[in-house]
Amino acid sequence: MLIILLGPPGAGKGTEAEKITQKYNLAYISTGDILRKAVKEETQLGRKARDYMDQGQLVPDNLVVEIVRERLTEPDCANGAILDGFPRTVDQAIFLDQVLPEIGAEIDQVLLIEVEENELIERLTGRRVCSDCGVNYHVKYKPPQVRNVCDQCGGDLYQREDDSLKTVKERLEVYKKQTEPLVDFYKEKKLLKAIDGNQDIDEVFEQIDSILKQL
Ligand code: AP5
Ligand code: MG
Ligand code: ZN
Repeated sequence: MLIILLGPPGAGKGTEAEKITQKYNLAYISTGDILRKAVKEETQLGRKARDYMDQGQLVPDNLVVEIVRERLTEPDCANGAILDGFPRTVDQAIFLDQVLPEIGAEIDQVLLIEVEENELIERLTGRRVCSDCGVNYHVKYKPPQVRNVCDQCGGDLYQREDDSLKTVKERLEVYKKQTEPLVDFYKEKKLLKAIDGNQDIDEVFEQIDSILKQL
């Protein structure tokens, strides 16, 4: 099973992916997480990606597609995977269509999580992330049991560099210009289902679950 999570920054892609992978035993592929790890470890990829990410711009397609190509061939993807944050441009989507037949896979469903803009800003500016395992929290909507400590691994929570109000606004613009065209791209392929992401975390998951159950 191959699922793509599409939606603006802050829509809840990472949050819902955590719940989906738990229930459906799918590999989780987040290009954002992979890139943040590369930045933290100061790898060659990380050094190339850092400025784009901090400014809320997309990292060039050629860097990102190679990450995904490699990741999809890892053993844990044999049972299926969730793609979070990829594809992000029409060119990335075309690349994916070329690469999937090589590994005998196809897209089962694209889930578009739709959320109003004011809510996105509220979610992103209040987000906290575990520096060890990458799980997302929110100061108001999903607080950890102990302040600034991850419930799952005990790691320290931090605020992402790109979650400042200024960069959040830039990311929302980038989404509209470069990623939103994918909505029509996948609609035409009859792969897209829209989810009302304005509800709480569990209610959004119920909508997703009811779609995945039927696949
Ligand atoms: P990436 O890490 O993918 O960031 P994003 O797409 O901007 O999405 P976010 O992670 O910000 O939002 P999310 O939808 O996962 O929301 P979350 O679940 O955390 O990418 C970062 C950067 O990397 C990009 O800007 C780009 O530079 C680069 N990059 C990555 N992929 C790329 C690609 N393919 N091509 C080129 N460049 C790429 O939720 C947000 C907050 O809200 C959390 O605090 C959460 O607790 C809370 N929350 C979630 N759901 C709910 C709910 N239903 N109700 C209330 N609160 C909620
Ligand atoms: Mg995310
Ligand atoms: Zn953690």
